[in-house]
Amino acid sequence: SSRHFFTETLLEWNRETNTRNMPWKGEKNPYRIWLSEIILQQTRVEQGWPYYERFIKNYPTVKKLAAAPEEEVFRLWQGLGYYARCKNMLAAAREITNAYNGTFPNQYDQIKALKGIGPYTAAAIASFAFNLPHAVLDGNVFRVLSRYFGIETPIDTTAGKKQFEELAGALLLKDQAAAYNQSIMDFGAVVCKPQQPVCSDCPLNKKCVAYHQQLVALLPIKSKK
Ligand code: ADE
Repeated sequence: SSRHFFTETLLEWNRETNTRNMPWKGEKNPYRIWLSEIILQQTRVEQGWPYYERFIKNYPTVKKLAAAPEEEVFRLWQGLGYYARCKNMLAAAREITNAYNGTFPNQYDQIKALKGIGPYTAAAIASFAFNLPHAVLDGNVFRVLSRYFGIETPIDTTAGKKQFEELAGALLLKDQAAAYNQSIMDFGAVVCKPQQPVCSDCPLNKKCVAYHQQLVALLPIKSKK
C-alpha cells in the first residue's frame, strides 16, 4: 500500500541517506529533548544550537533549572525572544521538581499537563525519550503528509487538524515511534522543504500525489493568512 511504502521509505531514507546533524538528535534525556523542542518552536536550528548548549551547561538537570532565579534564566535566553517559553519552562521545571522529585514524568498525559507543553512537544518528548507511540504533528509533518497523500484540506481548520492527526497516528510505527518521528521531521527539513523541495531526488516521488498532479508548491493549504 502507499502508506506502507511511505513509512518504510522514510525509515530507510533516515538510515541510509539522512546526514542531518543536531546536538539533540538521538537524545534520550527528556529534559534535553524538552529544551530543544521549546527552543525550536520559534527559532531556527543554527540560531538555537548555541543557546541549547549554554542552557545545558548552566542547568544540566531539571532540578538545577528549577533552582535558578528567573532573571538569570532570562539572561541566558536573551536573543531568543518569546520569553513566555522560558518563563513556562522554569515554571514546569519547578512543577517537575515538586510533584515528581525532579524526575521527568514518563506518561504522555503527565507530560502534556506541564506548563507550556502542548500536544506537539508532549509527543516529541514521549516518543524520543520514552519511545511511546505518539505521532508528532508540526509544520514539517503537515507539509510532507499533505503533499504525499494529496490532502487539500486546510491545515489550520478543525477538520484539517483532525484529518492530519488521524493520518499521522495511523502511519506511526508503534514500536519505532522515535525513529519514525525523527525521520519525517528531518525529511521535511531536508527533502520535502517549503521552498525548492528536492522532488527529482525524492525517494517517495513515485507515489507522491502532489508530485504527479503538480500540486507540490500549493500544499499544504492554509485557509487564513
Ligand atoms: N524540529 C523540531 N524538533 C526537531 C527534531 N527533533 N528533529 C528535526 N527537526 C525538528
